[in-house]
Amino acid sequence: MRKLLIIGIGAGDPDQMTVQAIKALNRADVVFLPDKGEEKAALRHLREAICARFIEKPCRMVTVGTPERAPAGTDYRGVVDDWHGRIAANYDRLFRDELAEGQYGALLVWGDPALYDSTLRIVERVRAGGLALEWEVIPGISSVQALAARHRIALNRIGEPVMITTGRKLAAGFPAGQDSVVVMLDGEQTFARIAPDDLDIYWGAYLGTPDEILMAGPLADLAGEIAAVRAEARRKHGWIMDIYLLRRQAARSG
Ligand SMILES: C[S@@+](CC[C@H](N)C(=O)[O-])C[C@H]1O[C@@H](n2cnc3c(N)ncnc32)[C@H](O)[C@@H]1O
Repeated sequence: MRKLLIIGIGAGDPDQMTVQAIKALNRADVVFLPDKGEEKAALRHLREAICARFIEKPCRMVTVGTPERAPAGTDYRGVVDDWHGRIAANYDRLFRDELAEGQYGALLVWGDPALYDSTLRIVERVRAGGLALEWEVIPGISSVQALAARHRIALNRIGEPVMITTGRKLAAGFPAGQDSVVVMLDGEQTFARIAPDDLDIYWGAYLGTPDEILMAGPLADLAGEIAAVRAEARRKHGWIMDIYLLRRQAARSG
């Protein structure tokens, strides 16, 4: 049977590679490297740097083209489902062509594979399509953990929950009944469009990379400034990845 190692590689700093991830990488006969086009070239370079630094035995690298996703429109789930179907078809072909029976293939996943990443769902889909695969998941340091560590904060207050959500969901307003909310995948600077009332923001961009930017304080004071810094960084680098924690100021219990 073909075997897959789905390896979390950390969220930007190669030093976040765990010993388990390095060992898994060195078990791979083939490493599949997604190529998401020019905008994400910086991310591809990080994956390549990780392979160059940590792989200690001969191993084949295979670049995987990623199909374009149609604009989301109103049917977000339908569009994503169709996109995943096309990626799964790509992977199916690739695993059959590039991975011999009994060999290990590695998929390097940004951050942790369990958090806002489609690799596990796509592998399930390839298996459902009839290709026999064994697979292992190696956890990684996620951007959520990197954000908390760089701001030197605990994510939750004592005994309180933490919600992790997307910019798309935050657009409806700060979630009712929540105290601490981490927002990912926000290409629209949604933090600047919600009522800032009693919220603090802990914002981080390019975490773990030499271009890292951190800002924290009351949302009412900082929203405009972060939006301007973000826009300028995006213009300068051609891409941006950012994440933030929003926390109610009133519930200062822990
Ligand atoms: C497709 S998700 C992947 C998340 C990843 N699996 C993880 O565990 O962090 C991409 C989002 O993660 C966040 N992200 C990932 N790496 C980041 C970094 N180095 N700095 C800031 N945000 C990051 C951003 O919110 C970005 O939009």
